[in-house]
Amino acid sequence: MAGRIPQSFIDDLLARTDIVELIDSRVRLKKAGKNYQACCPFHNEKSPSFTVSQEKQFYHCFGCGAHGNAVGFVMEYDGLEFPDAIDELASMQGMQVPREQSGSGAAGSQPAVSKDLFELMNQIARFYESNLKSATHAVEYLKGRGLNGEVVKRFNIGYAPGDWDQVRRRFGASRDHEQLLITGGMLIPRDSGPGSYDRFRDRIMFPIRDKRGRVIGFGGRVLGDGTPKYLNSPETPIFHKGRELFGLYEVKQAHKEVRRILVVEGYMDVVALGQFDIDYAVAALGTATTSDHIHTLFRTTAEVVCCYDGDKAGREAAWRALDNALSHLQDGRELKFVFLPDGEDPDSLVRQIGKAGFELLLDQAQPFADFMFERLARDAALSGEAGKFEVANKAAELIRRVPEGFTREGLITRLSSMMRWGENQQRITELFSRHTPSKVEQAKPQRGKLTPLRRALALMVQYPGITAELPAMPELAGLRLQGIGFLLKLHQQILAQPGITTGILLEHWRGTKEGEILAQLAMHDLFEIQLEREPDILGELQDTFVGFINQFLKQRIEELQAKVAQQGLTAEETQELMMLIREVQSEKRNDIGA
Ligand code: GTP
Ligand code: MN
Repeated sequence: MAGRIPQSFIDDLLARTDIVELIDSRVRLKKAGKNYQACCPFHNEKSPSFTVSQEKQFYHCFGCGAHGNAVGFVMEYDGLEFPDAIDELASMQGMQVPREQSGSGAAGSQPAVSKDLFELMNQIARFYESNLKSATHAVEYLKGRGLNGEVVKRFNIGYAPGDWDQVRRRFGASRDHEQLLITGGMLIPRDSGPGSYDRFRDRIMFPIRDKRGRVIGFGGRVLGDGTPKYLNSPETPIFHKGRELFGLYEVKQAHKEVRRILVVEGYMDVVALGQFDIDYAVAALGTATTSDHIHTLFRTTAEVVCCYDGDKAGREAAWRALDNALSHLQDGRELKFVFLPDGEDPDSLVRQIGKAGFELLLDQAQPFADFMFERLARDAALSGEAGKFEVANKAAELIRRVPEGFTREGLITRLSSMMRWGENQQRITELFSRHTPSKVEQAKPQRGKLTPLRRALALMVQYPGITAELPAMPELAGLRLQGIGFLLKLHQQILAQPGITTGILLEHWRGTKEGEILAQLAMHDLFEIQLEREPDILGELQDTFVGFINQFLKQRIEELQAKVAQQGLTAEETQELMMLIREVQSEKRNDIGA
């Protein structure tokens, strides 16, 4: 594990990032009053309810409840994990992400794991590439597969020499680097005794890049008929097979806007298609097409065509991809399937029918709904009357996963016509009424009244600048009121960082229960009616705090009075009690006077 990213760095990064600029570069924003608006990128809608506040450095969708700061946006929109999102934002600002030293000695050299590993992987890829020239049998193999030099270079295809220790000697000379390369899957520790040896030997090497172009792993093919045919990098801290796609980076490099992406099975397919100028193909890394893959693909394009063998296994694979894709199929996105003739793969086929022929196949690809209903109809035909209902249930279960919209309505219509329900609206409503709200829907901001404490929290998180004008009141820590500790901590935080925005404030609470509450409160509509003049936020906060202080005074009075009855008071306590009573009474008079 890499060391933690210091909170102060994240604060600084968020202070330099402008969320409006950031989001506008991905989703066109329009100014609307104090805020900016767009149609929400996280759900399908026709009128904009996605709002970005420059002042708060926070976005929020009134439609689906999506919300967050700049980090959250990059995580959601680019499909990145937290550390990668920070990296992404930092590189936009030209900043280096520092890592905290982790505690214990041995781990001391680990903070920079990822960064150094990326660098090493990159160097190894270049090393493999440079080996290719002098490895005649490897060049001959590639030529024999019909690849030309240009496409080999485009994909940085290389060759891992046959020795056991070329990579270890060149890149793993220090203990640290050796360890790093074991972590990165390039070296394998010896079973007996110390040391390690190269994982990849005498293989054609395909570097696998992440979305940002960094080499994170390799696929290595034997030159002949040996087994295993392919050796892939194992799962490592930087390489997750279920998430990455071979060729995606190259597709993004080749096109500013990617009209469609073709998903094929093999590395060789991607490369061969690339040679024939079909430069929009990617391959999963020997795994099925996962939900993460689909998510990533639809972030880049609106049309995904998955290419499979026409045999039973190919159709099974297609069905699994479909199953994983349903929840990503909002309106505007298309998923299609192409099934290849027996015994052909894209590599062999494109060599026979060329670019034009192959693209004709793609243009005639089967829309996912056709594929889906073909299968459902077959299942229904196979089963009797009783089984039919099961098929309908199963279909409904699939359709319910599609986000609301025309696509989903279309599927419902098809289902009812397949089942010959015709006008039997009842059956349809029944099947689709068991709709459980999605997580996003549940996250919708709640309207209505808040407790005074929650309302104070909401004002504080939404208006940290004004909150900073209130002095610290540490004595309130003694108040027996649920949440007061949290409120005081928040106040402390605001006082400690002048100019803090809502976005930065929330970052401190990422991943905590309090953070969720705060995020909800950050989007709470506090002034539901349009006020004629600016709301007096400072005044309201002051009143709330005075209220807390009074509550605290009363609590103390009650404590002391209870003590009078039980054991009597010391002289000081008597004095305190009298003072408290006077204070509360004068408070009351003030209230009446006001
Ligand atoms: P060629 O046989 O050289 O044309 O390669 P290909 O890329 O067309 O491979 P194929 O269609 O046979 O397999 C598809 C993908 O499955 C490959 O690109 C690999 O990612 C994976 N794969 C195939 N064989 C193996 C294997 O033996 N081991 C592992 N781990 N993965 C494999
Ligand atoms: Mn092949």
